[in-house]
Amino acid sequence: MKAKRRAVTATSGTSRAKRGPAAHRAPAVAPGPARPRTPSLPTLQGGPGPSSRRAGVAAADVDLRVDLGRGLVLPNPILVASGTFGYGTEYSEVVDVDRLGGICCKGTTLKARIGNPTPRVTETPAGMLNSIGLQNPGVDAVIAKYAEIWATWKVPVIVNVAGESVHDYVEVVRRLDGVPGIAGIELNISCPNVGAGGLQFAIDAGAAADVTAAVRRATDMPLLVKLSPNVADIRPIARAIADAGADALTAINTLSGIAVAPGRERPLLGNIYGGLSGPAVKPVALRVVYEAAQVVTIPVVAIGGVMELGDVLDFLAVGAVAVQVGTAIFADPTLPVRLVDELAAECGRRGLTSYRELIGTALPKKPARPSVKGAEYRP
Ligand SMILES: Cc1cc2nc3c(=O)[nH]c(=O)nc-3n(C[C@H](O)[C@H](O)[C@H](O)COP(=O)(O)O)c2cc1C
Repeated sequence: MKAKRRAVTATSGTSRAKRGPAAHRAPAVAPGPARPRTPSLPTLQGGPGPSSRRAGVAAADVDLRVDLGRGLVLPNPILVASGTFGYGTEYSEVVDVDRLGGICCKGTTLKARIGNPTPRVTETPAGMLNSIGLQNPGVDAVIAKYAEIWATWKVPVIVNVAGESVHDYVEVVRRLDGVPGIAGIELNISCPNVGAGGLQFAIDAGAAADVTAAVRRATDMPLLVKLSPNVADIRPIARAIADAGADALTAINTLSGIAVAPGRERPLLGNIYGGLSGPAVKPVALRVVYEAAQVVTIPVVAIGGVMELGDVLDFLAVGAVAVQVGTAIFADPTLPVRLVDELAAECGRRGLTSYRELIGTALPKKPARPSVKGAEYRP
């Protein structure tokens, strides 16, 4: 591992204490409404308490910092989602990227990928389907082209990593490890594991834990693992990933779907299958975050259909400590920064000195009994 690494944010300093996976273990049995950890910041849900409310708090005085563990302290809880903001550089002329809480860059693989056949994108009611297929120049080119630029930014850049085997993930992460300008790793485990006959890492608790643990052994960098919604019950998978040493969960990736071509003779997308995103997926994302936040003690970052401040507040209420904005960026790249301002103003209006009081307000007040039947949805 390379020794030198830049400070994650102005507030975080350079320290990244080495902690083994054991330090990240979530209890084996669902502990009920867990409280996501913020090691060096005040307590989260219900944390600061009524004493932190006072009349007339200026937006600039609201504490928006988020501690995702291992020294990764975001300046605020509004990030941009992987695949929707490129490498950040594409938008740096139109958006003050340093005002963002974090940037999750495009999915990065060991070797360059040309992506899926076209068409790759289509609009759907309240959303879109994409089958980009992880087009990217490969990890070495990403480091060579972007890391130096990222190192000059204040905003933490989290590299989204994808692969087709545990070896792929570990090798990509080894190359990213310690590179100045890279603040953390987000594992996109919604990929087929070629070695396991195409089984997706994200839909199997054992496979998800294996890849998380292998990456954990390969790096001390902050490690976020992204959950797929395409499962019957997210809870055993969320727990397995937390137990395997992830510092935070991000949820959700896209929902698997297809569209039909105009002549109705074939599916529309070149890859047949695509990932559904946008406002249409928000209720699913809310459910996944709500369930995951109750069974792990690591922070959960929400993604899925964020379009306005109300969406951010909803995700915080079900236990997310931060949100990522994705599809909405295609319509308005300035939205994420505006949400930062709107969240601070909303906290100020409510007399809150910290946004953290908004987290988890809609979680059950009593510990939930672990379900033996899977997801609680009963049609
Ligand atoms: C065009 C496009 C490309 C994406 N590429 C990636 C990717 O490379 N890695 C990843 O983990 N997620 C990727 N995603 C998923 C998003 O990061 C996000 O999880 C999902 O779109 C849900 O959020 P949204 O509804 O706000 O878009 C992509 C989404 C879109 C729309």
